[in-house]
Amino acid sequence: MNRRDFTKSLLGTIASYSLLETLFTRDAFATPVRPITDRWVRDLNDMSRDLKSGRISPTMWQAKVKELYDRIELPDLLAAIDFNKLSAHFEYPDLGVSTRMVEFPSLDGIPQDLVFVRKIFGMKQDRAIIPHGHKNMTSCHYVLKGELELKQYDKVEETDTHMVIEPTIHEIARVGSHSSISDEKNNVHWLRAQTETAFTFDVIVLDVQGKPYDIENIDPDGAEKVAGGRLRVRKLGVDEALRKYGHDTHH
Ligand SMILES: [Fe+2]
Repeated sequence: MNRRDFTKSLLGTIASYSLLETLFTRDAFATPVRPITDRWVRDLNDMSRDLKSGRISPTMWQAKVKELYDRIELPDLLAAIDFNKLSAHFEYPDLGVSTRMVEFPSLDGIPQDLVFVRKIFGMKQDRAIIPHGHKNMTSCHYVLKGELELKQYDKVEETDTHMVIEPTIHEIARVGSHSSISDEKNNVHWLRAQTETAFTFDVIVLDVQGKPYDIENIDPDGAEKVAGGRLRVRKLGVDEALRKYGHDTHH
């Protein structure tokens, strides 16, 4: 064996040994609960780090988050985020939604400083996650409870005061369904609660590729129709947007 082969073989051995050690350690100490969600959190964190650094595209992140959600069962997710505790004594606002941060319990293999932000959004019937677009961020809402009317749009153009958007999704989002946004695809979303209460779990990556994120409310009901089935919409300040869309009384 020459020196190069020897080094290669040695590295191979070390790699196998580390792998075995990892498997062994995990088997020895793993508890029977939550193996799926631990892995799920780590995978989501890895891909979110890749998105932040530009190793994967926003659309790739959206495809991967869909795969992740197709892999997890609702009861496991509810348990992992401790939904019962988070939603107990929840204070629903009269306009729009309230959010609560989600903390995963500290377990082996789950980093303490996760790259993605996680929150639950709760609202009463006819209240909404008001229509808004995003810059330099991705997110994915998963419906935990209730039903919401979901509308999404691609952001085609933008000025300081307006956006041109194109409708892409209009459906009823039910428990277990999920929808994502990014600069590249389905940038604008709008979710209106159709049931007495509704909750979503949102995972969010901010400052994609190191650029500052932004969120802007818009006015789709006041849209001007433009060519190609697109809509030219005004950007709205938070107060005006909440007054107009926070409590939907006319739909
Ligand atoms: Fe959003």
